Amino acid sequence: MDGVYVSNHPLVKHKLTILRDRNTDSTQFRQLVRELAILLCYEATQDLQLTNRSVETPMTTTTGEELKESIGLVPILRAGLGMVNGVWEMMPSAEVWHIGLYRDEHTLRPVEYYNRLPVAPRVQVCLILDPMLATGGSAVATTQILKDWGAKRIKFVGLIAAPEGIEVLHRAHPDVPIHVGAVDEGLNEVSFIVPGLGDAGDRQFGTG
Ligand code: PRP
Repeated sequence: MDGVYVSNHPLVKHKLTILRDRNTDSTQFRQLVRELAILLCYEATQDLQLTNRSVETPMTTTTGEELKESIGLVPILRAGLGMVNGVWEMMPSAEVWHIGLYRDEHTLRPVEYYNRLPVAPRVQVCLILDPMLATGGSAVATTQILKDWGAKRIKFVGLIAAPEGIEVLHRAHPDVPIHVGAVDEGLNEVSFIVPGLGDAGDRQFGTG
C-alpha cells in the first residue's frame, strides 16, 4: 500500500521479538520502546529537507548542511510517552506536543482528555508517536486534531500495527505516511492486536 512503510531492519525485528515476549519486564520493555522509536523515527525522517550553512572546522571553512524544517513530536498518551525521549535526544530542537486519548473499552472509540497544542502550529513536520495502531481510531482522531490545528506534514510512527488500523488510517488520511516496525495478523474479538505485545501502556508503566 502506498505510504505504508514497514521496517525491514534486523535490529527492529530483533528488538520487537523481545518486546513481544510476555516475560520481558517493564524496565526492559521501556528501554526497547525507546530504542525502537529511535530506529523507526530515523527511517521516517529520511526525507527531511536540508539547507546549506557555512561551518568553520579547525582546519578550514566548508559548507555543511542543517535541518531546514522544525519538527514536532506528538506522543499519544499514555503509551506514546515512552517513544519520546530517545527521539528527542536525536533531534533536540524538536518541540513536544501531548495529546491525551484513551480507547473506550466498550465503544472502542477514542476519547480525548488532554490537548496542549499551542494556538498556531510552530513546526513544519509532526511525528505522531504511538506504539500501537489497532483499530486506527486513536491515530485518525489525533491526525484530525493536528490538521484542524493547521499542521501540514504529518507522519505516524508506531511499533506494531494491525492491517485493520493501517486501512482505517490510510483511508481517512491518505496523505499521512505510516511507519511501523511490523504488521501483525489482525485484531481479536476485543480489538487487541494479535499476536501483538499486550497493552503497551500497562507494560511500560507497570499498571497491568
Ligand atoms: C492504546 C494504544 C493506542 C490505542 C490504539 O492506548 O496505545 O493509543 O490503544 O488503539 P486504536 O488504534 O484502536 O485506537 P489505550 O487506549 O490503551 O491508552 P493508554 O495508552 O493510556 O494505555
